[in-house]
Amino acid sequence: MFPAGGRLFPLEARAFDVFRGIPEKTNREAWISEYNISSSLSLYATEVFIRAGGAKPTSKRATSTTLFDRRSIIIGFVIREYVWNLTQSALGAPEFKAKLYRSVLHPPGRLLDFGCATGHLAGAFLEFEYYGVDIEPDVIEAARATFKMHPNAHFVAADIRLRPFAENYFDEVLFAGTAHHVDDSLLPAILKELHFCLKPGAMIHLFDPVLQTKDNWQQKLMRRIDRGNWPRRCEEILGLIEPLGIFEIGEPSFHPPYGAVIQDCDFLYLPLRKRLS
Ligand SMILES: C[S@@+](CC[C@H](N)C(=O)[O-])C[C@H]1O[C@@H](n2cnc3c(N)ncnc32)[C@H](O)[C@@H]1O
Repeated sequence: MFPAGGRLFPLEARAFDVFRGIPEKTNREAWISEYNISSSLSLYATEVFIRAGGAKPTSKRATSTTLFDRRSIIIGFVIREYVWNLTQSALGAPEFKAKLYRSVLHPPGRLLDFGCATGHLAGAFLEFEYYGVDIEPDVIEAARATFKMHPNAHFVAADIRLRPFAENYFDEVLFAGTAHHVDDSLLPAILKELHFCLKPGAMIHLFDPVLQTKDNWQQKLMRRIDRGNWPRRCEEILGLIEPLGIFEIGEPSFHPPYGAVIQDCDFLYLPLRKRLS
């Protein structure tokens, strides 16, 4: 661990216009926010719909969609995806994430954004030589189209485990909002690959919504609806990283999220420094 008592960087210490330079069409969240309350009601409606469809879950991890017949599964899935995206936007998730992530980064230099998806946050990182990577070719295609006027924004469709980048290539790596989407064997495998393409002494910034003892029904509901099947406690994440022995692990910190209507879980920030030798 880093010396106790201090975060490496003061979070939220700098004021950013996080969407400076972001192309107009990626900022559709702005108008959606007007539907804040109605989308939150949709969230509850979805949960009611899901629960009405079948028996009680057999385990804590059972997903709502396992409870339905085939047609209900499809309808439930479509509703859940739609409501999730709408609610995320309405609750200000993109703005919150961009601001939080930016607060620990140090442009310029080369930044790898692992799991960049459609590049919905890339506009906040354009002071870097920015590289977004995602395993899904479709989302990378969309990101490239959006940022085609930005020569310093690069998007790569690849599985990080296939080593699409050279060793010691990046000054910083962002591994954000993705850990709860990968299982206990994949998470260390991904971190090893991110370690490979990071410069010695440089940092991986891990952010993820985490479970905590204090969580109430709102956080539990949000984690249940989230598409990630592996929400964890901070200790569980540390338990997967420490045995790798390739990082100095910084002090974890927890950041209350966006949420005017519904509060999601706190976001964990965990700085991981690549050892010099
Ligand atoms: C939850 S999303 C992106 C979250 C985004 N970083 C944020 O903070 O809003 C996670 C992304 O990781 C991508 N992904 C998962 N496994 C991957 C892998 N092995 N290589 C590259 N991308 C991967 C998925 O396709 C998905 O788009």
